[in-house]
Amino acid sequence: MSNETIVIIGAGVLGLSTALHLQETLTPRPNLLIIAQYAPGDESIDYATPWSGAHYRPIPDSSPQGLFEASLAEKTYAHFKTYALTYPEAGIRFMPGVEMLESPPAAYLNLDGRYSAIDDFRVLGKEELAAGAEWGASYTTYCVNTPVYIAHLLRRYLLNGGLIVKKRVAGIEDAFAVAGARDGSGPVRTVVNCSGTAMGLVKDPKCFVTRGQTCLVTNAAPAPSTQTRQNSDGTWTFVIPRPLHGGTIIGGTKEERDMEDRPRAETRRVLLEKAAKAFPELLDATGRWEVVRDIVGRRPSREGGMRVESEEVARGRTVVHAYGAGGRGVEISRGVAELVGELVGKGWGKKSERAKL
Ligand SMILES: Cc1cc2nc3c(=O)[nH]c(=O)nc-3n(C[C@H](O)[C@H](O)[C@H](O)COP(=O)(O)OP(=O)(O)OC[C@H]3O[C@@H](n4cnc5c(N)ncnc54)[C@H](O)[C@@H]3O)c2cc1C
Ligand SMILES: *[C@@H]1O[C@H](CO)[C@@H](O)[C@H](O)[C@H]1NC(C)=O
Repeated sequence: MSNETIVIIGAGVLGLSTALHLQETLTPRPNLLIIAQYAPGDESIDYATPWSGAHYRPIPDSSPQGLFEASLAEKTYAHFKTYALTYPEAGIRFMPGVEMLESPPAAYLNLDGRYSAIDDFRVLGKEELAAGAEWGASYTTYCVNTPVYIAHLLRRYLLNGGLIVKKRVAGIEDAFAVAGARDGSGPVRTVVNCSGTAMGLVKDPKCFVTRGQTCLVTNAAPAPSTQTRQNSDGTWTFVIPRPLHGGTIIGGTKEERDMEDRPRAETRRVLLEKAAKAFPELLDATGRWEVVRDIVGRRPSREGGMRVESEEVARGRTVVHAYGAGGRGVEISRGVAELVGELVGKGWGKKSERAKL
């Protein structure tokens, strides 16, 4: 065990995946402290992870950022394949995914091998498409019951000796200071910023939120597959079964910079109506949805996409940023954790050797 403490701000899917990965890969094993305002079990509009569907849908985007996020998603997919078998209680289940788009962006029509990392990928024939759809595909993907999954990550983190403090930090200085004040914790040289959307004083002007409203239903639980439709008006209709008796998510909106934190009744009506039209087989015998609750969340979006980067904020003090995952935080979580691991791990062993001398 090193006497240096690494602080992670945030206990969403990114903070917890990263913390666990650091525990399991750095030698000597670091002292870890998570500081988070919200943790598994809490519900807040400013805590994105529990509201997330969450399914994995590859996106054929060939911009440098698009390719970067695709590589993070591929690492996560590969990791979850084994993880779901090793830890069936983690709430990850592999199942068929089907998507159909009514006005597909050009990238979908010229795929250029971009789905090679996902199993059983197949572009659907015209005769297989629903009325109105121009493009469709099927593949094997996974769905995650996110509240279950992050509770699982937290349990493993605590069992490995990790600490968590529930506290809001006003700025990064706070994070460097708080850990040193605890018994048995060493100096802090590294803070990992997994704060999602809105951490404290230094605001990244590129960050914004994308509101998502969905509806949790008990119909078709567990539904046999996850399905996505892009409608001709640009809206999305999706069905995401949540493994381990989590019901089924019917979604969903993507409303940039919309701060409304309550569900809109009209949105719910339209979501359920479109889903009923697209997937009538999921309705109950009387043709209805059995609604459990409305869900409203804020995706931590960022112009230019997710930021994963190391920054020396003062002499001997490094912040490793990992925020702004937008609508894909779960899908890229393992890839982000591995990358943060590489950034934090540079010179880790040597540094603590030096500290001992
Ligand atoms: C409706 C909806 C559907 C979605 N569907 C999907 C999907 O299908 N697939 C997918 O991959 N993703 C999906 N997402 C996106 C996903 O939820 C996010 O990308 C992901 O949860 C981001 O995780 P995070 O750990 O970065 O942030 P969060 O989960 O928001 O966690 C942030 C953490 O930082 C803490 N924090 C922030 N500021 C401070 C501070 N000042 N002091 C102390 N702690 C602080 C918070 O308390 C919290 O613990 C969806 C999101 C929504 C809303
Ligand atoms: C930490 O991340 C948030 C986004 O959640 C960002 O606004 C903030 O600037 C980052 N903190 C620092 C000190 O860079």
